Amino acid sequence: MSSRTPTQRLHVACIMDGNGRWARRRGLPRTDGHTAGEEALAEVVRAASDRQVGWLTAFGFSTENWVRPRTEVRHILSLHRKLFSRTEEMNRNNARTRWIGRPFIEKGARTPVLVQKAITKAIADTSANTGLSVTIAFDYGSRAELVRASRQAMTKGVVTPASIQANLYDPEMPPVDLLVRTSGEARISNFMLWQIKGAHIYFTERPWPDFNRHEFDDALASLSSPAL
Ligand code: FPP
Repeated sequence: MSSRTPTQRLHVACIMDGNGRWARRRGLPRTDGHTAGEEALAEVVRAASDRQVGWLTAFGFSTENWVRPRTEVRHILSLHRKLFSRTEEMNRNNARTRWIGRPFIEKGARTPVLVQKAITKAIADTSANTGLSVTIAFDYGSRAELVRASRQAMTKGVVTPASIQANLYDPEMPPVDLLVRTSGEARISNFMLWQIKGAHIYFTERPWPDFNRHEFDDALASLSSPAL
C-alpha cells in the first residue's frame, strides 16, 4: 500500500489576481500590490509544502501582460528575479522550481536575458529536491501552448490527446486538481486550458496579496466538499 497521503498527488494551480486593487484600496501604487503578491506566493509555497501537496503552479506573467505600463512590467520582472532567487527557501522546503511559457528562442518571445538566467539557475539549483514541484508560468498563454503542441504532434503525423500532452511545455506536469482564482473574478484567462480539464475551481473574493495559508487550507478543503 502506498504511504503517500492524499495531498501528495495533488496539483493546485493559482491565478493570482487582485494585486492592483489591493494596492488601490490602501492608497498605494500598483507595484506595491505586486510586491505583496510575490510575498503571498512565497507563503503559499511554504503552505503547499507543509501540506505535502505534489504540484503548485502559479500564473506569474501572461503573454498578454507585456502591454501593461513599462514601469509595471519592469517591476513584475524584477519580482520574478526575486522569486527565482529564493533558492535557499526552496531547498529548505525540498521544493523544486519549474517553468512553463514560450520558449526563449521562439519568435515573439520577449523574456529578458536576466529573467531567462534567473529561471535557468533556479531550475538547476533546486533540481535535486524531491518534494513539491513549483511551476511558474511566465510569458505563458494556453492557446499558444496548444497551437505549438498540435503543430509538433502533426510533424509526426499523429494528433491524439497523448501526442498533444507529450508536446506541452511541461509534458510531465500532471492534470490540475484544484484551480484557485482570487479577487472575485470567475474567469480562466487563457490559463492551462488543457491541464484543467477535470479541475475543481475555487473562486475567492480575497485579493491575491491577502491569500495566506488559511485561505490555502480553505481552498484545499473545498475539494472534499460534497457537491451541492
Ligand atoms: C494580477 O494582478 C496579477 C498579475 C499581473 C500576475 C501575478 C503577479 C504577481 C503575483 C506579482 C509577482 C509574482 C511573481 C510570481 C513574481 P492585477 O494587476 O491584474 O490586479 P488587478 O486586477 O486588481 O488590477
